[in-house]
Amino acid sequence: MEAEAAIPPLDTSDPALIPDPWPTFTTLRERDPFHWSKYGYWVVSRHEHVRDVLMNRKDFGTGDFAANLRLFYGPDFDVLANPAYRWLSEVFIMQDPPQHTRIRNLVVGSLTAKRVRAMEPRIREIAQALTDGFKARGSADLITEFAYKFPVMVICDLMGIDYEASEMADLIAAIPEAFTVFEARILSPEELALANRRILELEAFFQAQFENRLAHPRGDLLTSLARTGQEPGGLSVHEAITVTIGLFGAGFETTANIIGNGLHALHANPEQWARLVADPSGMASGACEEALRHQSSLIATYRTALADTSVCGHPVSAGQRVLTLIGAANRDPRKFADPDRFDIARNDADHLTFGGGIHFCVGAELARIEARVAFEHLARELPQMQVDTGGACWRENFLFRGLTGLEARWPAQA
Ligand code: HEM
Repeated sequence: MEAEAAIPPLDTSDPALIPDPWPTFTTLRERDPFHWSKYGYWVVSRHEHVRDVLMNRKDFGTGDFAANLRLFYGPDFDVLANPAYRWLSEVFIMQDPPQHTRIRNLVVGSLTAKRVRAMEPRIREIAQALTDGFKARGSADLITEFAYKFPVMVICDLMGIDYEASEMADLIAAIPEAFTVFEARILSPEELALANRRILELEAFFQAQFENRLAHPRGDLLTSLARTGQEPGGLSVHEAITVTIGLFGAGFETTANIIGNGLHALHANPEQWARLVADPSGMASGACEEALRHQSSLIATYRTALADTSVCGHPVSAGQRVLTLIGAANRDPRKFADPDRFDIARNDADHLTFGGGIHFCVGAELARIEARVAFEHLARELPQMQVDTGGACWRENFLFRGLTGLEARWPAQA
């Protein structure tokens, strides 16, 4: 029998992973489901294993934030001297109970399902305003003119921030440049310096917003978050700023990407676009769920073993880090039939795109409404659009998978 070739250690900074990570994910999942990566952490890729890690709050958590980063930068690196890593270490996604529980409860208390569902009519208006802006032209870049602007405008509306204000374009551009600190790799000195500068700018902006809300309360999310500080155990202004940068960025980065990735998949599989166009309101929810599964806009997350433990029988030592490859788990044939097929009638929401356990995405409801409204609206407004899927440009990062551009054309209207 021929020996199987060894699988090279996964390097998440490999540019070949950007346009098409799926063959590598399949290799890992099928041939080396407990993989030791180039940077010295475990990589799990099967649905059962990823789920097991994310749900196991007893044995897995954030662990030692600084030590995790020194895996990439070496033992002498002063992690918290970098404002961007200092910020990340304070965001509740990077914290363990009880601090995580306290902050998460305060956020969930402000970002209630009721508040989010009540936004749907406004979300529809925003989608309409955007397509009204370019429909007559007969062409648009679906990413810059729709997929990105749409969730940015929604999160600004929810927070009570003026999207049209002069500083907004720069502030929005700050998010992807600051969020590089989420990537499970070493950043270049230039990338890190930029992330540091951007976090300081974001903190200054939201500091001013909170001072304003405390002096002049309104009915928006920022006022709600600021108000928690008036109760015992509520958010201090510093905590509110930290959380809000996370909510603001998470509120559009991943959602913009899922809308863009979904549009790309719908047009790379034209029979699926035709199905959506035939019944926009009936099929939009299925299109959203399948885009989430097949085109996860957050490819992975990570945990650290808090004690010696195991994942489905595989030993993991205390302090070891585990990258959970959500994108690979969502295409595990043990879980999903014919998993590489994009099928908007699949009707299976058991993907792991919003994570699981105590860190399950607090914005899942909002993201689902936005993606459903986006797909339904575009299928109704621009059913004849032709999309240049071959010319799509992917963003140069691994964790946040999305497009920078996607050109579409349709018969122009007088
Ligand atoms: C398609 C869009 C989205 C995707 C794919 C996504 C994905 C995720 C995932 C995988 C996690 C868990 C991370 C982990 O376990 O380490 C998470 C957590 C989180 N998400 Fe989302 N998200 C999306 C949209 C949003 C939106 C719209 C918001 C805010 C309005 C948001 C805010 C958050 C926050 C604050 C957490 C941390 C929760 C915690 O640690 O308890 N996300 N998201």
